[in-house]
Amino acid sequence: MTSHRRSVFITGAAAGIGRATALTFARNGFVVGGYDLDEVGLKSLSDEIEQIGGTAHVGHLDVTDPDEMAQRLGEFVGAAGNRLDVLINNAGILRAGRFEEMELGGHFKEIDINAKGVVNGLHTAFPYLRQTPNSVAVNLASASAIYGQAELANYSATKFFVRGVTEALDLEWNRYGIRVIAMWPLYVQTAMTDSVKTGTTDSLGIRLTAQDIADAILAATEPSRLRRAIHQVHFPVGSQAKVLATGARFSPGWLTRLVNKRLAHS
Ligand SMILES: NC(=O)c1ccc[n+]([C@@H]2O[C@H](COP(=O)([O-])OP(=O)(O)OC[C@H]3O[C@@H](n4cnc5c(N)ncnc54)[C@H](O)[C@@H]3O)[C@@H](O)[C@H]2O)c1
Repeated sequence: MTSHRRSVFITGAAAGIGRATALTFARNGFVVGGYDLDEVGLKSLSDEIEQIGGTAHVGHLDVTDPDEMAQRLGEFVGAAGNRLDVLINNAGILRAGRFEEMELGGHFKEIDINAKGVVNGLHTAFPYLRQTPNSVAVNLASASAIYGQAELANYSATKFFVRGVTEALDLEWNRYGIRVIAMWPLYVQTAMTDSVKTGTTDSLGIRLTAQDIADAILAATEPSRLRRAIHQVHFPVGSQAKVLATGARFSPGWLTRLVNKRLAHS
């Protein structure tokens, strides 16, 4: 039997944006599935959701592991009444520094989690999204997918990957009634950016909170009539990301490069 309550499956839910998003969806009546490597963080998330009267299912998940993804998604959809309204591919890591000075293995790990992890989530969740009317897959891209970012070259490239797979699947999965969208925040105050110091963190600051992104994700999954009509796929979060995204769309390549060079002090 299908449940009346909507459900959301969130990767990287123990901390930061994923955690704020899990709590926000719980407050809005969703059955929440929160998955992460950090089981201590997940336990406290589950307790907090129960305290506010919500329902949470949590469990260990490494997004790079296809078997574990299949297991956790299957369990969650079963427990949530055979529906998957929202999938949020949020888990990610960021390594900042000069590309050639960083370990190659670290670059590969970033690709495994940020790019392959998203493919794993999308591919495994597809049958559940297809069986749920008006379902949405949300991928965490970043403002670093607007133009390649100095000192974040590999991270930024993984977010271009997320941008590409989102645009393509939005087209492909339209026939099944599945929306596929990407969130594009600029820097957010989470553990991810705690010790990050680059030219752009200096020039632009780290202004957004995890709650800002959580609110934007919830709003993006329940679009206004206008957004639905124009079929919005990318959702920049915060005024800086909106200005940079709009600027890059309308300015010539040389000007976009110059702006990014100046912002990165490179
Ligand atoms: N913080 C920012 O400035 C910012 C800006 C734009 C986009 N984003 C994106 O938002 C997402 C969340 O970032 P955040 O700032 O909340 O980071 P965070 O470091 O605060 O939290 C990330 C969570 O993902 C989990 N995680 C890491 N590797 C995992 C794996 N292999 N499998 C499952 N879980 C794993 C971590 O344990 C952690 O709980 C990421 O995709 C990130 O790239 C962040």
